[in-house]
Amino acid sequence: MAIESIRTVDPEIFQLISAEERRQRDSIRLIASENYASKAVLAAVGSVLSNKYAEGYPGRRYYNGQVNTDAIERCAIERAKDLFGAQHANVQAYSGSPANMAVYAALCEPGDPIVGLSLPHGGHLSHGWKVNFSGKLYDAHQYPVSRETELIDLEVVRELCHEVKPKVLSVGTTAYPRAIDFEGFAAVAKEVGAYLVADVAHVSGLIAGGAYPNPVPFADVVTSTTHKTLRGPRGGLILCRQDLAKAIDRAVFPGLQGGPHMNQITALAVALKEASTPEYARYCAQVIANARALAAALEMRGFRLVTGGTDSHIVLVDLTPKGVAGRIAADALERAGIVCNSNTIPYDPRTPFDPSGIRIGTPCVTSRGMKEPEMEQIAVWIADVVENVEDETVIKDVRTEILQMVKAFPAPGLDF
Ligand SMILES: Cc1ncc(COP(=O)(O)O)c(C=O)c1O
Repeated sequence: MAIESIRTVDPEIFQLISAEERRQRDSIRLIASENYASKAVLAAVGSVLSNKYAEGYPGRRYYNGQVNTDAIERCAIERAKDLFGAQHANVQAYSGSPANMAVYAALCEPGDPIVGLSLPHGGHLSHGWKVNFSGKLYDAHQYPVSRETELIDLEVVRELCHEVKPKVLSVGTTAYPRAIDFEGFAAVAKEVGAYLVADVAHVSGLIAGGAYPNPVPFADVVTSTTHKTLRGPRGGLILCRQDLAKAIDRAVFPGLQGGPHMNQITALAVALKEASTPEYARYCAQVIANARALAAALEMRGFRLVTGGTDSHIVLVDLTPKGVAGRIAADALERAGIVCNSNTIPYDPRTPFDPSGIRIGTPCVTSRGMKEPEMEQIAVWIADVVENVEDETVIKDVRTEILQMVKAFPAPGLDF
């Protein structure tokens, strides 16, 4: 095992890696943006491709020795295009935020107006939030979700776009459980002459597996991370129409980055192959079925679901009816072995550091083979802990039950 070599060289780090592996094995991981990459993907990340500089693009590199890197990057590009039905793919972005940064750089100038979903309403930092480069470099305007339905209201987006006349209209979410009307967004973008950028970081795997709407036919550019539902290595992906290919590629390199992380691109190629199988499509359908089962069971126990349910891997839970703050709940759940994150809910009366909700997601538990009956059990544990956040006996009992249960569901990619 490659990891065993670390034991000899650096026992301190070996211990920490082993401890993290045990943590991932022994807990119920419900962080919606995480997953278990396969052994093959992890092996590719740790492969000799990490040793190679490959500035440029296949066939147009600055250094010699690219016979294998060119073949690998071409393979990753072709697989990404095939899987999502895109005309062009750039696989070099180091991660989701750099992918978005490159896209803005390709499509507009600093100071230009851009429009995106507000962070506390489920958008991402890189969609124009004030502390992020996107909010500092551009004239960023943000649309909210509806106060009544907690859904994105296209009429509100349309009004804002007509007022602001953005160069880029972005749609993409990090804490929004519902399907998005990409065609409707494209119509709004067209009305005001904006580029539509769909950031599908969270749901790209579900799109690849045919379980969530695909924005590629409607958006000018689609960005994604590769390590969430897609179950690949950490990284970024940009898909676009052929006429934008040159501008996008130039914005990534040499505009923003130097040498691509070829080990990451190699692992992405492997993940894209895995994501093109019928087994992966079944996985994606189960991710959503599990999220719905978990949502329904939580609702039965008196939790309020933001938007009333889910069309994806995400369930956003408002803990207000339970009288417990999100952070206190997330910390108590972690002590019990359930790992999720506290999260703002739309129009949250509490602060972002101590919000009213928790965000839970089913990619990890589904990768372990858990199905609806396990989701119902997890909902019971969540409710028992949230209703008893100060009772360490209840928390300890749940912890014991979880340690027993996870033994039956080996996690992909782990050695133990
Ligand atoms: C919608 C969306 N876009 C972009 C990103 C940024 O990705 P990264 O953390 O890889 O920079 C995220 C990460 O959570 C995300 O949810």
